[in-house]
Amino acid sequence: MLFTSSLFLIAGAAQAYAATTTSSSFAPQFSPVFPNMKKATGVVTSYNPNQYKATDTLDTSGLSGYPNPWEAPSTTSAEVKAAYNLINWSKVPKAPVRKQKSNGDWVSDSDGDSDPYCWWSSTNCLSPKVSYLPDDIYTCPKKGDWGLNYDDGPFNRYTDENAKKENPYAEPALYNFLQKTEQKSTLFYIGSNVATYPAAAKRGLNDGHQLCSHTWSHPVMTTQTNIQIVAELYWTLKAIKEATGVTVKCWRPPQGDVDDRVRSIAWQMGMRTILWDEDTNDWAMPAPGGGDLAPKKVDAYFAGLIKNEKAGKYKTGHIVLEHELNSATVNMSMFWMPKIQAVFNVVPALTCNNILQPYWEENFVYPAGNSGPSPPASTTTASPVPVPTGSPSTCTPGSFGLGQGDGYNGACCNDQSDCLDDCLSGSCNGEANPNTPVTTAPPATVTTASPAPVPTGSPSTCTAGSFGLGQGDGYNGACCKDQSDCLDDCLSGSCNGLVNPNKPVITTTKKTTTTKKTTTTKKTTTTKKTTTTKKATTTTKKATTTTKKATTTTKKPTATASCIAGARGKKKGNGKTGYCCSSSDDCLETCRSGTCGL
Ligand SMILES: *[C@@H]1O[C@H](CO)[C@@H](O)[C@H](O)[C@H]1NC(C)=O
Ligand SMILES: *[C@@H]1O[C@H](CO)[C@@H](O)[C@H](O)[C@H]1NC(C)=O
Ligand SMILES: [Zn+2]
Repeated sequence: MLFTSSLFLIAGAAQAYAATTTSSSFAPQFSPVFPNMKKATGVVTSYNPNQYKATDTLDTSGLSGYPNPWEAPSTTSAEVKAAYNLINWSKVPKAPVRKQKSNGDWVSDSDGDSDPYCWWSSTNCLSPKVSYLPDDIYTCPKKGDWGLNYDDGPFNRYTDENAKKENPYAEPALYNFLQKTEQKSTLFYIGSNVATYPAAAKRGLNDGHQLCSHTWSHPVMTTQTNIQIVAELYWTLKAIKEATGVTVKCWRPPQGDVDDRVRSIAWQMGMRTILWDEDTNDWAMPAPGGGDLAPKKVDAYFAGLIKNEKAGKYKTGHIVLEHELNSATVNMSMFWMPKIQAVFNVVPALTCNNILQPYWEENFVYPAGNSGPSPPASTTTASPVPVPTGSPSTCTPGSFGLGQGDGYNGACCNDQSDCLDDCLSGSCNGEANPNTPVTTAPPATVTTASPAPVPTGSPSTCTAGSFGLGQGDGYNGACCKDQSDCLDDCLSGSCNGLVNPNKPVITTTKKTTTTKKTTTTKKTTTTKKTTTTKKATTTTKKATTTTKKATTTTKKPTATASCIAGARGKKKGNGKTGYCCSSSDDCLETCRSGTCGL
């Protein structure tokens, strides 16, 4: 599957990317780094069934330090600017910012038949014109599969006049129902809702559902400027990470409105675009945030799907759009669920596409389907699970990183995204390492609140020679706390930032896995949403023209590289200070024989 290979990419991020030989290789994709963030608590890293009772209520306190819920985030925040600067803007197509009506909808428009920017709202295009972008995921390839997914959650509790009617359906109502029916789903979360009700998001993850992003304030994304898009995506990623401990690799544009400009930004921020191919139109029923579609019309959509399946009319499965938006959508879903389960194989929307672990954190192991955990990431047997599995490994004792054979520099670590494993007796052992000096619980209180977007490291004590971005003593005494910050070096007991001219020379063997885009998706015969249905968004947002010019800070790669052997970073000639690395987004390459390369 497409995403299977991109999951390998995650393990190797730009490394696997560069190892790919075709020109249609995916572009480097990286997990964002979130400064000044408290570590999520109460999160389990593997599925732990029935830890909640149906009578449990959830804490209703929100996260702090975020933009106002349901408002367009500021485009001048230092964090947003830092995320913006990590994107390679020369890779982002210069598609026009689409016009928007005062009610928030986009102005119906077209780029013509050639559809150069693969604008879904205009042509239902799902196969980007940009070579490095993978196709959107929009269906379940296997006949009989119902890819379950709910948008717009977590369903927040009301405190106003809607409370009486809505709150019986607000979370944890749907998650209780799914737990009872042993049903897992993909959940597309709105950042504002996560920040307002983080306990519900945590419940979603802990219950074994797959989390993805659905923007901060639910705008029509092609009407947003580049920096506005970054802001919408950044705060949502951060809120989900703070609430649940995971950084998601999947997102769904509100109303499906996406073109290659938007896709490219989302991709570079670590996410793949997920759409759908059947719509229950549940979102349009009368209830808060809904419209005026009669519930019996929605009943008819559900009934039609079941009828067609029974009649053998479908050649594939489907990703069927549903919402945890209000009492009407949740109640409707509860009503139809047993009937759907009787006819379809109901699985999370990503699972039917073989995506079983949609997070940058590879230590999170959750059910692949509806019950039981998926195999742990460190399993050494080859399996169809898209989590990278290590072959019998030889690694440097004491090194760390997720099980990938001999990994990066002989460590259990290939790159920034997989430094969560330990090498014991020459083998990568998975996360748990009883012998490491510092155990996994990092001091949540240590996080220094600095306004700088990139953590620069307080006076730290770390293990000399280890690396990871400056977070105190970090993970296992290294300058590394988790996958997202393994880009720093420990010198004289301190995390020093990216540049390390004195890094000891280590020659490495590189891993041999080449990931290729497997051609699988067909997109000819699926029933697509024909009417570009629009949700009546309550928040009408003016495209405030703080259109920041994409001042690309592209540095020229020098032809003749000279770098310090063993250093890493992308093709930038000699990078900074002889290092193959000049910014946090390009430290995925290794210097060999004085040249940056893989
Ligand atoms: C940005 O992308 C362009 C086009 O693919 C590439 O030539 C350039 O090296 C990239 N810049 C950085 C900083 O990675
Ligand atoms: C829930 O669904 C049932 C069955 O369609 C319907 O009779 C009932 O009115 C619905 N209740 C709400 C609150 O939407
Ligand atoms: Zn939505």
